[in-house]
Amino acid sequence: MANIGIFFGPEKGSVEKAARKIAQEFGEEKADLIPVKGAEVVDLEKYDKLVFGLSTIGKTNWDSEHKDIDWDVFSSKLKSVNWTNKSVAIYSLGDQITYPQHFVDAIGWMYDRLMPLDVKVVGFVDPEGYKFEASEGFRNGLFMGLPLDEDTESDKTDVRISHWVSLLVNEFGF
Ligand SMILES: Cc1cc2nc3c(=O)[nH]c(=O)nc-3n(C[C@H](O)[C@H](O)[C@H](O)COP(=O)(O)O)c2cc1C
Repeated sequence: MANIGIFFGPEKGSVEKAARKIAQEFGEEKADLIPVKGAEVVDLEKYDKLVFGLSTIGKTNWDSEHKDIDWDVFSSKLKSVNWTNKSVAIYSLGDQITYPQHFVDAIGWMYDRLMPLDVKVVGFVDPEGYKFEASEGFRNGLFMGLPLDEDTESDKTDVRISHWVSLLVNEFGF
């Protein structure tokens, strides 16, 4: 079994495409891809190095309607996990031109669910090169995960993933 678990959702769109690229960058034998839909705590407990990938579908949606229901369901299970020796890196798909005030807010949403559980979150990213105005995923001068924008900057995705995975290789401590 691989030692990195990449949990992602939704399936079939840009989040899944990025999950596959991240796995490739680590080396496919090192990373398992797990759709978050239907995933359970036992699936997560197999890995010490975790990557969580999700899309941002709007603050109003996150806060009220929970449109990204798969992550919403799975996040409620995180409190049952034994987090000792585990680290999590977050990435989110977003669109910085159409939603400049809420670019990759989902990074903050995920981070705020992990913080109360004392989870070690790694893979923070410098905002250099992004055009956003505000983001709940951006605090103290850094994104608390990797923002990807397949809608308006798909040409930058590969290099962003490649830099981020190099950072994670360090921070996960291989
Ligand atoms: C209804 C809707 C709301 C969105 N809201 C945001 C947003 O608030 N912030 C953001 O950065 N991107 C937003 N996006 C862009 C998506 O995050 C982006 O298109 C992403 O790549 C979708 O991932 P998927 O193809 O895996 O579903 C929104 C997209 C839709 C359709």
